[in-house]
Amino acid sequence: MKITALNGFKDIVPGEVELWQRVETAARAIFSRFNFSEIRMPILEKTELFARSIGETTDIVEKEMYTFVDKQITMRPEATASLLRAYIQHGLHVQKPIQRLFTIGPMFRHERPQKGRLRQFHQMDVEVIGAQNPRVDAELMAMGALLLEELGVTVSLELNSLGCPACRPGFRETLLAFIEDRYEALCDDCKRRSNTNPLRVLDCKNPSCRAQVEEAPSIQEHLCGECSDHFAVVQEGLQQLGVNYTLNKFMVRGLDYYTRTTFEFITGDLGAQAAVGAGGRYDGLIEQLGGPKVPGIGFALGMERLVLLLQQQEEMESAQGEIDIFVAGLGEAASEFVFPLVHALRRKGLRAAMDHEGRSLKSQMKQANKAGAKRVLIIGDNELEQGQAVLRDMQTQEQEEIPIASGVDKLAGSLFAAC
Ligand code: HAM
Repeated sequence: MKITALNGFKDIVPGEVELWQRVETAARAIFSRFNFSEIRMPILEKTELFARSIGETTDIVEKEMYTFVDKQITMRPEATASLLRAYIQHGLHVQKPIQRLFTIGPMFRHERPQKGRLRQFHQMDVEVIGAQNPRVDAELMAMGALLLEELGVTVSLELNSLGCPACRPGFRETLLAFIEDRYEALCDDCKRRSNTNPLRVLDCKNPSCRAQVEEAPSIQEHLCGECSDHFAVVQEGLQQLGVNYTLNKFMVRGLDYYTRTTFEFITGDLGAQAAVGAGGRYDGLIEQLGGPKVPGIGFALGMERLVLLLQQQEEMESAQGEIDIFVAGLGEAASEFVFPLVHALRRKGLRAAMDHEGRSLKSQMKQANKAGAKRVLIIGDNELEQGQAVLRDMQTQEQEEIPIASGVDKLAGSLFAAC
């Protein structure tokens, strides 16, 4: 019996690894343009680190962590908590009041594997620690948007504010009152959540819960003065930098440490796993982990999802580029013959192309290659005279002679059969 990799754990093999390198190289170049330094942390951390940061009642901590129960250690499910632990441990705030750090590596979550969702997955994570200015929030989102744009990936940026310990409890009460009347129609998870973390009810994927919260109050209208001002400047900043975004009152994120700005980069091309990246501000977290009282904000991009998008794009491009047959005519008489022939082939439903510039055979073959032609029919004046053309299969390089004397329509018919 063959031994295969664990479910949700994947090898990245040659042919695929090049795309990973492309993603990572592009990210490193952008992070450096925005003045970020790399930091690398271990994969194993004390379990308590994640319980204290991500939150005891989150799905990640409750259900998804790989924890060695006898040792109280956990394989990191994300990078933010570890990175902050390292920042605090090494007193990095003493060296520089504002730290701009990034890290790239594997994370582990015991989720149900599917397309774009793995148990070992990779994040490119960036964090700015020590900056309170809302412009930094806009700058970070602009950096993410720029990286995705340079990779050629189309996403939309969704934005929300989760307020702060001063205004969120008030919103929580308002939301609870709204949920109370609809409690019976909620899924079991949401019934439970409405006791532990009612905001999570807002982003439940269950259609019945979605319908219930459609008219729910928006946290954006319940922010305190400071949070509201912060949110306004974030949006102004995005507009100044030309970054498009949409407000999403339902976005609450699956990690408890967020305050104020939260955002997600969303794609419509990966089915249920729509978030290519996500992040937000976590102003109380560093202090909560025993560090200095400094704010922070960051986001992480999921590398598997990025690579999937690039692969899909490449497939689309090559499918678009493929033509069934390129007809290379050499010499004047041959070109006269080829012109109506290509039209006849197209009428039969084939994707056909020819050269109109009287180029050499070599350059026409190049053209055919570039267009991804599956076959090339070569007709020179000599071939015309002899009544035979050469049909070359571009994949196998095999050639066969095709009679052409009986005219364009018959030839188109036999080429259609051969393709
Ligand atoms: P997150 O939303 O849990 O946030 O994950 C960020 C991204 O990692 C997701 O948008 C997704 O692309 C990818 N990802 C998450 N889970 C999986 C999975 N099972 N398989 C494949 N990809 C996955 C965080 O982790 C926060 N630490 C982000 C952050 C940084 N917030 C502030 N700083």
